Amino acid sequence: MPSDSSAHRDQRAWTSGLPEPDREMLRQSENLVELIAGRIDHAGGRLPFDQFMELALYAPGLGYYSAGSRKFGESGDFITAPETSNVFARCLARQCRQVLEEVGGDVLEFGAGSGVLAADLLAELQALGSLPDRYLIVDVSPDLKARQKALLQQRLPAVMDRIFWLDGFPEQGFRGSVIANEVLDAMPVHRFRVDRGRVQEQYVEAAGKRLRLQWGEASPLLRAAAEKLLAANPGLPDGFESELNLRSVPWLQAMSGCFAAGLMLIIDYGYSRAEYYHPQRDRGTLMCHYRHRAHPDPLFCPGLQDITAHVDFTALAETALDAGLAVCGYTTQAYFLLSCGLEQLLAESDPGDVKRHLMLTQGVKRLLLPSEMGERFKVLGFTRGLKSQPIGFSLKDMRGRL
Ligand SMILES: C[S@@+](CC[C@H](N)C(=O)[O-])C[C@H]1O[C@@H](n2cnc3c(N)ncnc32)[C@H](O)[C@@H]1O
Repeated sequence: MPSDSSAHRDQRAWTSGLPEPDREMLRQSENLVELIAGRIDHAGGRLPFDQFMELALYAPGLGYYSAGSRKFGESGDFITAPETSNVFARCLARQCRQVLEEVGGDVLEFGAGSGVLAADLLAELQALGSLPDRYLIVDVSPDLKARQKALLQQRLPAVMDRIFWLDGFPEQGFRGSVIANEVLDAMPVHRFRVDRGRVQEQYVEAAGKRLRLQWGEASPLLRAAAEKLLAANPGLPDGFESELNLRSVPWLQAMSGCFAAGLMLIIDYGYSRAEYYHPQRDRGTLMCHYRHRAHPDPLFCPGLQDITAHVDFTALAETALDAGLAVCGYTTQAYFLLSCGLEQLLAESDPGDVKRHLMLTQGVKRLLLPSEMGERFKVLGFTRGLKSQPIGFSLKDMRGRL
């Protein structure tokens, strides 16, 4: 195991090649570090990693998702599927239409980012003559909510009366489709390591104006979860490091509690539990994104970069089954989009309209290619009270891997 100081040197080596933020951005990051240091002080000298990650991403006005920086797209830090091409939303619209035709109701999107998925999905549903009663959005970031409103107002003024932002989960009895694209990977995670058979937790401490990572005794909650994981995976070696998302399970339980009928889709990068907590993945999956560079240092300029971890799809499937949902499919993003009719959308595009056709084919490549988003991203579906099999899972079913 590297000592904490050599790990720190490794982090510096990783981040030394990153572009320098400008003065104003640096000042914003310093303000966030000050706030985090104050919280550390208040908590008696350290914060569990998940609480640091929550502040780094969501501290009001300063966190990565709560401050005004451009995050998505070419000029931001990373690009998501709906930002890549509207084909993603157009395929999802075909899946939503199937559900709306059977159970009626609404579409609910968690974590709507810039609002582009909502805009493209609604535009396509409108073109298909299948607008939902309501399009509901739940997002924890006030800044992004404001951007979503502005974009939707500009793109779809005529359907604004169907779009609502909720402060939390919907009322009981929700019917329709629920979509969470790249939301669970943005939830704060706990980090743990195995040290001579015992579970340790990672904390963040403050040293003057700098933050540093430190291992210490795990909280009872993390210890219980990690020990359960270790008991089921006795082959994990000493020194194994990874992370646990202890918020995704309560999130899914809460959504299931409001969900009367329809389809829930979780779309994200992630693995089955056996792949995630594999002896060879012994440094976990935590990753940071800053101006399209991926690196592993969560302490680099807090507030200016995204911090993310992969999703454990097995944990979600187990939670869904316990909550009485049916796990209707698990597949790759590529197969999901193809199952929803992506090839037909391509065939309908006019190659004579060179610019538009080229943009479409380039976007499709990024969405489908295994080396891009096609295989890294998975789609996991849950249903309740839906008789038909969702079309998105018709070409490939990987539930056996969960
Ligand atoms: C990586 S971005 C993805 C944005 C968008 N779905 C896309 O694919 O472009 C994560 C989004 O999830 C939101 N978010 C994070 N945790 C959330 C939660 N618990 N409930 C609702 N939204 C959340 C963030 O504010 C942000 O809008």
